[in-house]
Amino acid sequence: MLKIVLYFILLAALIIGGCSLYHLHRVNSKNKAEMVRYNQEIPLNTDLGKVLVVYYSWTGHTKDIAKQIADKTHADLYEIQTKETYSSPSVYVKSKKELSAKKYPAINQDNLPDVTSYDTIFVGAPVWWYTMAPALYSYLEQTDFKNIRVAPFSTQGSNVGTFFEDFSNLAKNAQILPSENFNNVDETYKDQVSNKINAWLNKLSK
Ligand SMILES: Cc1cc2nc3c(=O)[nH]c(=O)nc-3n(C[C@H](O)[C@H](O)[C@H](O)COP(=O)(O)O)c2cc1C
Repeated sequence: MLKIVLYFILLAALIIGGCSLYHLHRVNSKNKAEMVRYNQEIPLNTDLGKVLVVYYSWTGHTKDIAKQIADKTHADLYEIQTKETYSSPSVYVKSKKELSAKKYPAINQDNLPDVTSYDTIFVGAPVWWYTMAPALYSYLEQTDFKNIRVAPFSTQGSNVGTFFEDFSNLAKNAQILPSENFNNVDETYKDQVSNKINAWLNKLSK
């Protein structure tokens, strides 16, 4: 009997491992195909006026994209910070509970930028559980964009879910511009990611 149980456990582990490897392979191939589209240099040619980049980042990917956008547009940068930082691995359960209960974390209010002093505002966060990380819900709940141009962006493993629909539903009085999302890719695609950002920024010109 024990032998049969062990056999089933081994079989389940093999199936799960195989599916994960296959998923990784598909994501890598998709990323590679997307990055090829940005092999050629795309010069930046855009006028976005006075720019603010607001972002939340837990492990640094969104921060990296936010900084690139800010560098390219000479923007002010504002990081949304939760009062209590998430730790691993409890982040998965904690954030899931917050999203399900619609009870989002308290965020620092220090030096909150006045959105009315900007012409274009970028707002970015990681995708968590197929939607916005809860900290972005917290920020959006307390912000009125007063008819300013707002360009949302996300970073994710591979699946944005309903991030942008949820963003649009919650961003009060925002003139929503075309969004962009960035899958996590390795350093070898640095130039391609930069070109992808340029292509997006060019579309947003005033
Ligand atoms: C709690 C949690 C949930 C996540 N859910 C998703 C998801 O639904 N889809 C996805 O593609 N990636 C998901 N990810 C991966 C992150 O979106 C991805 O690593 C992101 O780039 C991290 O951004 P950061 O480094 O700025 O925190 C999740 C990560 C965490 C920690």
